[in-house]
Amino acid sequence: MSTEKRVTFGSKLGVVLATVGCAVGLGNIWRFPYMTGINGGAAFLLIYFICILFLGLPVMLTEFFIGRKSRRNAAGVFKVMAPGTKWSIIGYNGVFAAFFILGFYAVVSGWTLEYIFQALSGSLNGKSAEEFQQDFTLFSGSIIRPILWTFLFIGMTHIIIVSGVKKGIERASKIMMPVLFLILIILCVRSVTLPNAHLGLDFLFKPDFSKINSSVILSAMGQAFFSLSIGMGCLITYSSYFVKDTNLQKTALQVTFLDTLVAILAGIMIFPAVFSFGIEPTAGPELVFITLPNVFNQLPLGNIWSLIFFILLGVAALTSTISLHEVATAYMHEEYKMIRSRAALIVSLGILILGIFSSLSMGILKEYTIFGLTFFEFLDYITAKVMLPLGGMLICIYVGFRVDRKILKAELTNEGTVPFYFFNTYVFFMKYIAPIAIGLIFLNELGLIQKIQELVA
Ligand code: PFF
Repeated sequence: MSTEKRVTFGSKLGVVLATVGCAVGLGNIWRFPYMTGINGGAAFLLIYFICILFLGLPVMLTEFFIGRKSRRNAAGVFKVMAPGTKWSIIGYNGVFAAFFILGFYAVVSGWTLEYIFQALSGSLNGKSAEEFQQDFTLFSGSIIRPILWTFLFIGMTHIIIVSGVKKGIERASKIMMPVLFLILIILCVRSVTLPNAHLGLDFLFKPDFSKINSSVILSAMGQAFFSLSIGMGCLITYSSYFVKDTNLQKTALQVTFLDTLVAILAGIMIFPAVFSFGIEPTAGPELVFITLPNVFNQLPLGNIWSLIFFILLGVAALTSTISLHEVATAYMHEEYKMIRSRAALIVSLGILILGIFSSLSMGILKEYTIFGLTFFEFLDYITAKVMLPLGGMLICIYVGFRVDRKILKAELTNEGTVPFYFFNTYVFFMKYIAPIAIGLIFLNELGLIQKIQELVA
């Protein structure tokens, strides 16, 4: 496929918003608070920040470099840049990761539809915190309903994907992202003015360093990769649609900043309410769904607020499911020369099958575990904590050691037209710090570092 003919996003603003749309999603508003909750609060947040800055940013920039330079899908790029080598494994890892993430992400996205429905029917009104919790457990563990919502959500993603990059992805992101931001701020204000709100803020911002252990570090790294959508070629695919004069450095900074900001706002929205309503911060995946309806109940016209919120959460999820779907669809469309709609259909059916199993694993299939994890938890674990960091590590090693520095610099500075003051620092981080840090975190989690220490002692 020639560079010139490939579709691109329509404008620079479109580029930023679509990429923010890809990064901002359930990862920020659903996964971030519950991960922070089960990993001890502020200490997790601190490590998360470190991972964003020192691992996330360099990997993101490196993905932008690869995508815009080669203008191919996540797997195809390595056929262009490193023909006849095994580097395309990075792309395959990404395509599989996209399937696996969608396998549980689509289920949670479906939950947002249930809550939209409940807000419309008025059934969120006047319930106690316990009732919200019971209702959620009953709903998520049931058989038909969550699967139907998952099906519907995949259907919506499918329609946008077949209607094309520019019309679908860009338009949806442009309108909805700013509105989501606004409503988050309003909900933060309500949450911090609840009784005992300060306990939640302490939990989020006052670190207890004794909480840090290898699993917390791995979780924080996984969350950083998941939230920024890096390590699986999603941003390679998106940046392959960037217009030619996009400032890659600025875009990486903007996307990282906005993504992190949304996560923090979500934390400020959730934790004061969690403590105010006596909910356990360690509740897990249900945290947002059992906490927020309480906040809405405290607002005048609570139903309307919950309706708007869950619609926006659904849209934020949609702009991310689109990006995940696109990774797999673009791969099949371009590498197997399949027509786009057929590629999309195969991807949608694949996700649907995974989605059915992960939804059922919240209920009747709960007892069937893989390494002690339910299917839903397994898909989450294997992607966020293994595939994405591994992909990120390989991307950095590939570009760090295989790509000519001059080519790298030319692309990242738009042929010398934008300055890159920290180029050498970036290269150092990408080449050494990121791969070594990710490698060490893996080894530590596997318990290998401890074994080595024992051997040496
Ligand atoms: N970053 C998205 C979120 O925070 O919800 C999830 C995601 C999208 C992960 C795309 C990976 C990806 F490639």
